[in-house]
Amino acid sequence: MERFTPIKRILVTGASGQLGLSIQDIAMEYPQLVFVFANSEALDITDYVQVDKIIENGNFDYCINCAAYTNVEHAEKSPEMAFKVNAEAVKHLALACKQYGVTLIHISTDYVFDGEKGSPYTVDDQPNPINMYGKSKWEGEKYIQEILDKYFIVRTSWLYHKKHGNNFYKTILKKAKKGEVLRITDEQIGCPTNAANLAKFLLKHILTENQEYGIYHFTDGQVMSWYGFAQNILKENGLKSTTNIVKENNYRSFAKRPKNSILKKILI
Ligand SMILES: NC(=O)c1ccc[n+]([C@@H]2O[C@H](COP(=O)([O-])OP(=O)(O)OC[C@H]3O[C@@H](n4cnc5c(N)ncnc54)[C@H](OP(=O)(O)O)[C@@H]3O)[C@@H](O)[C@H]2O)c1
Repeated sequence: MERFTPIKRILVTGASGQLGLSIQDIAMEYPQLVFVFANSEALDITDYVQVDKIIENGNFDYCINCAAYTNVEHAEKSPEMAFKVNAEAVKHLALACKQYGVTLIHISTDYVFDGEKGSPYTVDDQPNPINMYGKSKWEGEKYIQEILDKYFIVRTSWLYHKKHGNNFYKTILKKAKKGEVLRITDEQIGCPTNAANLAKFLLKHILTENQEYGIYHFTDGQVMSWYGFAQNILKENGLKSTTNIVKENNYRSFAKRPKNSILKKILI
């Protein structure tokens, strides 16, 4: 007998970001899932009245929160907005999810860690963020854990997409194609993660009806430095032999970055 899978209704916030668009790309492959995609215009998660209205009327089973303030440098210079979106709005979203029985899938970051550990970070390691972006995301995580029983916090790292968003992958390609010399640091190591893979992981995760709520780490699993990542991008696009790429560690950003942000992947 064929197993009947009930339809699940899913609200995706921040739907025009890298991850939101990656979920939109594959949504049609999941006929058992019905999506409402809300970009920042349709749903500003800092507008609590709007959040309550959409969640109250949507009859959702899940909310995937892809909305975030992700500009690490801007967050350092003026943290108010980062905390408003990544912490306070997430708190309200969690309260609304609790009230209407919605499971919250919240995306978080490797930047909740300080980068001083000599091995990959597990879900049991204690966060200790060293920049404002990381602090705001950790604050958001804490609210979720205090408020909700039914939640998944999925931490990921070095997110990129080949088509969507502004990211390291696209910047390297653009500069290489223009013939610019690439000066890239090898002082930080982590795991680049294609947003398309994360999107697939999230939707499969919903279909497994896993109820082991809590924190998960998802990456593409390969450890490298930014320099190594740039080399891979050039190789993949046949630009390695024609691009001048040098290791340069003099670049100092305003926000501190964790040296090691390798997340130990949890397989489910
Ligand atoms: N990018 C990375 O390297 C990285 C690494 C680790 C974890 N993450 C996490 O992964 C998640 C997805 O990141 P991403 O790369 O897809 O980010 P992204 O491309 O910057 O997308 C974030 C989206 O959130 C929207 N947004 C911002 N403020 C909002 C608000 N008040 N209400 C509703 N929407 C709002 C933005 O809309 P507008 O464009 O209209 O502002 C944007 O579409 C985030 O939680 C991020 O913290 C990202």
